[in-house]
Amino acid sequence: MFINRAFLATVAGLLTFGPVSANLSVGNVDVNPLAMRTTCPCYADYPDLYEATIDELSAGMAAGKFTSVQLTKAYLARIDETNWKGPKLRSVIVTNPHALSLAAEADALRKNGTILGPLHGIPILIKDNIGVQPEDGMDTTAGSYALVGAKTPGDSVVVKGLKEHGAIILGKTNMAQWAYWRSSTGLPNGWSSVGGQCTNAYYPQANPGGSSSGTGIAISIGLAAAGLGSDTGGSVISPSSTNNLVGLRSTIGLISRTGVVPISEHHDTVGPMARTVKDLALLMNAIATGPDPADNYTLAQPMPVPDYTAKLSKDALKGVRLGIPQHFINYSTPQAAAFLGAVEVLKDLGATIVDANITNINSWNNGTLRNYMFAADFNVALPRYMKTLAYNPSGVTTVQSLIDYNNAHPDLEKPPTYEAMDLWYQYVNVSETEPMYRETIDFLSREGKGGIDAALKDNNVSALIMYSVQSGFSALSGYPQITLPLSFLPPGQPAVQVQNHTVQTYTPFPGQPYGFTFAGTGYSEATLIAYAYAFEQATHHRLDKRAYWEAIPKIQLPDV
Ligand SMILES: *[C@@H]1O[C@H](CO)[C@@H](O)[C@H](O)[C@H]1NC(C)=O
Ligand SMILES: *[C@@H]1O[C@H](CO)[C@@H](O)[C@H](O)[C@H]1NC(C)=O
Ligand SMILES: *[C@@H]1O[C@H](CO)[C@@H](O)[C@H](O)[C@H]1NC(C)=O
Ligand SMILES: *[C@@H]1O[C@H](CO)[C@@H](O)[C@H](O)[C@H]1NC(C)=O
Ligand SMILES: *[C@@H]1O[C@H](CO)[C@@H](O)[C@H](O)[C@H]1NC(C)=O
Ligand SMILES: *[C@@H]1O[C@H](CO)[C@@H](O)[C@H](O)[C@H]1NC(C)=O
Ligand SMILES: *[C@@H]1O[C@H](CO)[C@@H](O)[C@H](O)[C@H]1NC(C)=O
Ligand SMILES: *[C@@H]1O[C@H](CO)[C@@H](O)[C@H](O)[C@H]1NC(C)=O
Ligand SMILES: *[C@@H]1O[C@H](CO)[C@@H](O)[C@H](O)[C@H]1NC(C)=O
Repeated sequence: MFINRAFLATVAGLLTFGPVSANLSVGNVDVNPLAMRTTCPCYADYPDLYEATIDELSAGMAAGKFTSVQLTKAYLARIDETNWKGPKLRSVIVTNPHALSLAAEADALRKNGTILGPLHGIPILIKDNIGVQPEDGMDTTAGSYALVGAKTPGDSVVVKGLKEHGAIILGKTNMAQWAYWRSSTGLPNGWSSVGGQCTNAYYPQANPGGSSSGTGIAISIGLAAAGLGSDTGGSVISPSSTNNLVGLRSTIGLISRTGVVPISEHHDTVGPMARTVKDLALLMNAIATGPDPADNYTLAQPMPVPDYTAKLSKDALKGVRLGIPQHFINYSTPQAAAFLGAVEVLKDLGATIVDANITNINSWNNGTLRNYMFAADFNVALPRYMKTLAYNPSGVTTVQSLIDYNNAHPDLEKPPTYEAMDLWYQYVNVSETEPMYRETIDFLSREGKGGIDAALKDNNVSALIMYSVQSGFSALSGYPQITLPLSFLPPGQPAVQVQNHTVQTYTPFPGQPYGFTFAGTGYSEATLIAYAYAFEQATHHRLDKRAYWEAIPKIQLPDV
């Protein structure tokens, strides 16, 4: 049982943030959980888990202030407090039944002088389409009952990388079902049949973005040190931006997708999501493990894989030229005002800012082509993935049989207000053997990569900058993009209800977080991470506003 000192302090009326009877839920920017530490000396020696960095957690364990078991217990308690109880954010689908014994093993190794890597004993949450071995006691469902109880052939390559670096896989996070590939025509972002509707921690019942929705929510309030999402057309960038996090979608071919439930081999990628750029770089070092023969896109990557922490420097933007693709900036929005402020910061940091318009954006940013290609790819990728399963209780093998499965289980897979036809129905017979398939792939890749590379080269800039509303152009090109906290929509922003959803959600909403983006050419991750680091160190916008009061977990390390 947990003795929650924060709770006791609240009862005793010791806290500095005002009367507990007030409704602190909405738009309150002054509530600061760190205030607890000023009133209870017992917290002063421990990192605040709302914000704790991997370096702080590692240092605390190295100094013997706390153990991985205590840290894991604290995170599990915080998940319990906000995921199933309190605001019921539903960001986590399942926690690892072996998390505490794995943490005990990590502690024993540390006592023995063995540190597996920079993530030794650090709890990490991963999106539920990223495979873990059956022995870990957690399903890999992509949010669908068609995959509940299925047995993967083993850990995905990215999970192996995390484990080799010493991480504890704390649990699996909720997501837009099938990584939003089913949701886009009728199901809300952040909804899955297995996990239900997860909601943003910055406003009650608000849209968390997606499809890596649960990782976004969970990491935004410190339910783990950091997490993994996946990105096909914006699924890391959107929830990172909307949940006030740093997120990276990397070049296709850098990180292996083996063991990840797919949509499209041309566009799927795994991406880290974290509260700081340094934490994100540490995750990159664990998951970018070099060539994987089972994912031949990774065979052509430049070697060696860089150390993503190596270029982190406050001076990384000095003498750098950056370009603004003007068609992505709407100067009538609040985001643009924050963006212009950021441009001034970049100039102060020594960067030169010029226009870098992407001239062919209209021809290439074509939703019809994109959907056609995702559908055709899914028709190939889903059967391939299902064949890898060691056990497949639903019997689903193809997109057609998935449609049949959903029709046969409307109670599970067709919520009452769900009426739209899935895109995949329309495209179920599209095949990769059609000439249009090859032409579409070639067109999007050529126009996309070409468009970005031309904007960079013609304007002599090393990256493009914007606010985080547009990630699709990088995704369609297979190129990288990083987002980090920039600002929040004003408190006066109306909460707009999203219609026809099982659970009503709001988007946009008051105080909605949004990010700042650096986008670049293939394999420029280390550079983009360095730019983001310099901007972060100069601004620290993440803490300009915290989650709403009920969504902030109160349990801290001294409570377990
Ligand atoms: C706080 O205010 C919000 C919005 O006005 C309302 O929905 C919620 O029920 C209130 N909560 C409490 C605990 O009074
Ligand atoms: C600690 O190291 C010793 C000597 O190498 C070994 O015998 C022991 O099993 C180790 N204990 C753990 C828990 O790893
Ligand atoms: C990967 O292998 C497939 C055949 O299995 C081949 O068609 C494709 O060109 C290869 N891709 C790369 C990037 O090597
Ligand atoms: C970029 O596009 C904007 C309009 O969207 C235009 O005003 C500007 O002149 C263009 N810049 C360059 C360098 O072409
Ligand atoms: C720009 O933003 C304004 C204010 O939100 C909006 O009314 C307008 O439609 C936007 N313009 C475009 C082209 O999206
Ligand atoms: C998108 O591509 C399709 C197929 O090539 C074409 O018919 C359509 O006109 C394009 N749409 C736009 C807006 O360019
Ligand atoms: C797909 O093909 C099957 C078998 O030929 C056919 O029964 C079905 O109607 C087709 N679906 C669509 C959406 O065209
Ligand atoms: C491009 O910019 C760099 C500075 O970032 C400068 O040294 C170089 O001369 C420029 N090249 C051209 C062709 O303008
Ligand atoms: C919502 O549902 C109503 C009634 O079923 C339908 O007429 C309407 O088109 C739907 N709206 C959207 C945005 O899907």
